[in-house]
Amino acid sequence: MLDITHIAQVVAECADAAELDALHVKYLGRNGEVNKMASKIQEIPVEERKEYGQKLNKIKNGIHTIITNRSSELSALSSQQLTNFDTSLPGISPTAGHLHPTTLTIREMVAYFNRLGYSVYEGPEIETDEFNFNKMNLPTDHPARELADTLYIHEPEWLLRTHTSSVEARCMTQEQLPIRIIVPGKCYRNESVSMTNNAIFYQLEGLVIDKGIHMGHLRATLEGFARKLYGDDVVTRFRCKYYPQVEPGAGMDIQCRFCGGKGCQICKYRGWIEALGAGMVHPNTLRACGIDPAVYSGFAFGMGLDRLVMMKWGITDIRTLYNGEIVWKE
Ligand code: DAH
Repeated sequence: MLDITHIAQVVAECADAAELDALHVKYLGRNGEVNKMASKIQEIPVEERKEYGQKLNKIKNGIHTIITNRSSELSALSSQQLTNFDTSLPGISPTAGHLHPTTLTIREMVAYFNRLGYSVYEGPEIETDEFNFNKMNLPTDHPARELADTLYIHEPEWLLRTHTSSVEARCMTQEQLPIRIIVPGKCYRNESVSMTNNAIFYQLEGLVIDKGIHMGHLRATLEGFARKLYGDDVVTRFRCKYYPQVEPGAGMDIQCRFCGGKGCQICKYRGWIEALGAGMVHPNTLRACGIDPAVYSGFAFGMGLDRLVMMKWGITDIRTLYNGEIVWKE
């Protein structure tokens, strides 16, 4: 005969409705244990059959009760779990993927300049000749205006901005003084594409206009910035450079991180990488944007982001930053 105590124990241990169903089939199903026992009744002597049948019936009813009870226990348990479920718990965020190295670098730079009180300012990528060139003191005969360098949408007025300096002009003409902004964004030039040059590239522009701003502020800001980006052992140098929008103009170079200044393919065997152009905003630029150079002064800088991103992440081909290849190879 079936051991009802054992069955009760097995049923009590089953954890969900599916397991319980399986037990139901095993004991009470058409080919289950109880029916198997019932079919054995032929082998029992006639006079014992009645007692056998009654016993079996009792067991069958017992199993049925045990299973039904466990079934209601299980459904009570699962609805309790549902009501205890805290729907305000945060979800599990997927861990696949990561941000683009350029995005990560921009965010790091923005964080640095935010702490110095700068805001992020944005402008259009399709720009007018007026903001891209005129207001930036770039005269009509400046080589940067040539078709060979600038991608025009509609000559001569509409073009793809060749630098983020155009946003300086927009900010100076539109906002209240003092100004302290950075402008990360895409720029376009008619470059032939190579390992180190691309027709689309990123710049990060900076502009500060206030009373009493001088070159010392510029140097301290940019040297601090280089240390933040590459660590305290970074080596920088400033050189005199000509940019029409500033006077005096300067360039900051960073000693090549690939070769430690010895010279390699990345730094074109110079040992240094030109990181940015900078200077004190030219009085003509200030005037063109409606600011009185007798009262206000300011500094500005503009850096090519791509080469900095490449140095930071050890990427040797600029095109890697713009194609769909997710994993770059050295
Ligand atoms: N606009 C310059 C370029 O694209 C970079 C630059 C130089 C930006 C000097 C500045 C600056 O703000 O002061 O080459």
